Amino acid sequence: MAVSGYEVTASKYRPKTFDELAGQEFVVSTLRNSLINGHIAHAYLFSGPRGCGKTSAARILARSLNCEKGPEAGPCDGKETDVCDNCRSISRGASMDVIEIDGASNNKVDEARQIIDEVLFPPQSGKYKVYIIDEVHMLTNQAFNALLKTIEEPPPYIVFIFATTELHKVPATIKSRCQQFNFRLIPIETIQEILKKICAEKGINAEDDALFWIARESTGSMRDAFTLFDQIASFSSGSIRSELIREKLGITGLDKLNALAEACAANDSPAAFALTDEILSSGIALEQFVIDLTGFYRSLLLLKNGVTRESLLGYRAALFSVKALETYDSIRLEQALDILLDCYRNIRYSVSPRFELETAVSKLTWLNKWVSPSELKQAIDSARSVLGAAGSTAGGNVASVQQKQAEPVSRNEAAVMPAAGAATAANNAAANNSAAGSAPARPQSSPDGRSLSDEFHKMLASRGTAAAADDDAPMWDSAVRKPENENPPQVDNVLSMIPGTVVN
Ligand SMILES: Nc1ncnc2c1ncn2[C@@H]1O[C@H](COP(=O)(O)OP(=O)(O)O)[C@@H](O)[C@H]1O
Ligand SMILES: [Mg+2]
Ligand SMILES: [Zn+2]
Repeated sequence: MAVSGYEVTASKYRPKTFDELAGQEFVVSTLRNSLINGHIAHAYLFSGPRGCGKTSAARILARSLNCEKGPEAGPCDGKETDVCDNCRSISRGASMDVIEIDGASNNKVDEARQIIDEVLFPPQSGKYKVYIIDEVHMLTNQAFNALLKTIEEPPPYIVFIFATTELHKVPATIKSRCQQFNFRLIPIETIQEILKKICAEKGINAEDDALFWIARESTGSMRDAFTLFDQIASFSSGSIRSELIREKLGITGLDKLNALAEACAANDSPAAFALTDEILSSGIALEQFVIDLTGFYRSLLLLKNGVTRESLLGYRAALFSVKALETYDSIRLEQALDILLDCYRNIRYSVSPRFELETAVSKLTWLNKWVSPSELKQAIDSARSVLGAAGSTAGGNVASVQQKQAEPVSRNEAAVMPAAGAATAANNAAANNSAAGSAPARPQSSPDGRSLSDEFHKMLASRGTAAAADDDAPMWDSAVRKPENENPPQVDNVLSMIPGTVVN
């Protein structure tokens, strides 16, 4: 330990009993039962994310096995001065009967052979000799193979406890010889509770929001939570506050994110750019800002879908901008996330990360005008039904159809399109085009860069022509007919009214 006597929170608060192991109820109850019933396995395999208690659980199990009160009772608890000699020496890492091996640095076959030799010597003071092998997935295949036989039939006093963060890298031959336990991420609320208790013990004043933020940031790892907590406690001088954390760690505050989203929702790009500049100038790292902004839009999306849990949203639901929430639907919010996730990916390869960010912000300012591919398809489907209705009124007059083909589509023609309820998109486009006052300009591509497939054009063309040529033909049942002319005007006309389609 450091000369100053300072001990990091993670080591100081390493759980020593099953009761202290938080968030792993299933593991705890199963291990306890097997201890009570005397069903001790030769080998255990603990898997799960880092910092969620695998090594701690292995030590607790080792303590239980060698506790002077017997395995049934679980390890001694209480102050270190009150526990039995075996429990104490194991906690201090001084027991000769509990051997901890780091699989990452002792991964060769020779080291495995050494274990196999040592296993033959019985324990010194406890009932069991326990091998805890951490990061076991790092062992070489040869090392695994050398160990197989020993794991399957060790001397009765031997217990292996393997721990890994990468279960899929552990060979099936090993897995099938072990009792497996999957450790889970620790819930944010549980982490927050533990931090709260520690603050009370240490006499630290802490805002709930601040502890919640630490818990959320550690994404289920208790060790990460403790490490972050220590860092924050070191600059907080006895009072942990959200504001100070944001300032010191360069995190974008929710107020700023709300303001930016509101500017975007109002299509106010000058304000959005100014806010972006302000946030970056305040010293927040660009990547961090993109992460925070992405998290913010994700929360909006969750809120929009009825999720209100603070642990998922990152903040209380009531703190999010109502204006931004009202402006966007799920489709627009998904698109915002796409834009920002893309932005993050692009940052590292870009000529300028800042340009990437500003482009993303710019796209966000016209988000509410964005049309998704599925909406575009809906518009096309509506247009098809409009086309059907138009075809039946104009049907039978091939000459006039062919004559019209030479002319540009006029505003009048657009205006006579039937105002079927389903054809809103087409009508909106017609209105836009009329407002422009001249032949409708055809957009070169849809906002998401897609255009209608050639196949679809051909199908529309063939159907339109067949219907126009034959009064009796059912409108949309002309798949067998050959197109007689390329693109009858109605087709072009209707397609051009759908925002973002390309008419060739
Ligand atoms: N389930 C848990 N309950 C309480 N503290 C935990 C838990 N998991 C981890 N910790 C804390 O994190 C530190 C590291 O835990 P450890 O058991 O070594 O994690 P792992 O082996 O899963 O990476 C411990 O010292 C302890 O302070
Ligand atoms: Mg570990
Ligand atoms: Zn004991």
